[in-house]
Amino acid sequence: MSFDTMRFTEKGLELLDQRVLPAREEYLLLETGEEVARAIEDMVVRGAPAIGVTAAMGVAVELERVADDEIDDALVRVCERLRNTRPTAVNLAWALDLVEREIGALRGKAGAGEIRRAARALAERLHAEDIEICRAIGDAGSPLVPESARLLTHCNAGALATAGYGTALGVVRSAARDGRLLRVLASETRPFLQGARLTAWELARDDIPVVLVTDSMGASLMRRGEVDLVVVGADRIAANGDVANKIGTYALALAAHAHELPFYVAAPLSTVDLDTPSGDEIPIEQRASEEVLTLAGVRIAPEGVDALHPAFDVTPAELVTAIITEAGVVQPPYGPALARLKGA
Ligand code: MRU
Repeated sequence: MSFDTMRFTEKGLELLDQRVLPAREEYLLLETGEEVARAIEDMVVRGAPAIGVTAAMGVAVELERVADDEIDDALVRVCERLRNTRPTAVNLAWALDLVEREIGALRGKAGAGEIRRAARALAERLHAEDIEICRAIGDAGSPLVPESARLLTHCNAGALATAGYGTALGVVRSAARDGRLLRVLASETRPFLQGARLTAWELARDDIPVVLVTDSMGASLMRRGEVDLVVVGADRIAANGDVANKIGTYALALAAHAHELPFYVAAPLSTVDLDTPSGDEIPIEQRASEEVLTLAGVRIAPEGVDALHPAFDVTPAELVTAIITEAGVVQPPYGPALARLKGA
């Protein structure tokens, strides 16, 4: 991979600005926790694992900045602020819970310098672990990909949505390495165009054949026999196996089911939330209607018309053929299997 989704530099945290890809490859320097929180809200960085890792890095950046006697309060404040940036991806809360547990435990016991070093080390650890986890997901999923497969994916669950390698695109990368992939069909993913701008960019960069399709083509392509399987990522998997992912995922799952095609979800175990019993309880982020009403900054709907913008949908567990995790491929019924893998 010849880019970093996020990286520490001497000055602070740098994020590859996903709002301007593929036109420009620009890194944005963030020097405060507040700047990191805004970057997550504005989708400079997006994708469930990526925002979890970025949030942990944001805590480290904030603690670096504040005075020694403010460090305890700053930890509480910055975790709270980051936690409230995007509600659906549980990896964000998962990473911040870990930060609060591990760094919070040092309060009153360690000096400010030690707390700062521990926060930085934890963020670096989560970053490195995320890449390893994605590789394991990719390798676990590769055998599910048939010879010369035409694989449909939605949104971007790639290196740009993680610390590197990707989840759904981790499966793609491993299958391509193993010589079984013919091409990826990437749905463009209105309104942020993660598929058109990000998935297409990172796969083309890796010389993995990718063809762009619009969000409305999936069912018809399946009917015409032009899709062999669907692999997507997840923002949160409920205890019963219901999956929240980018809006449009549910429609692809229904279409795959109707055409008897496998529909796989690739995600780390940190995306599994046993505290959320089913998809009905997953909070769905509602983003600004402006993002739907405009395209590349140009208004495409008449003035005075509003738009709906739920950013995610829920695919019921019964439409999911299997869930691909770093601990292996999980088959239905998901409830007991996910609980066992999470050690509950
Ligand atoms: O709004 P986004 O771009 O953050 O949504 C991203 C997705 O829906 C991804 O599929 C999901 O986070 C998994 S990323 C490995």
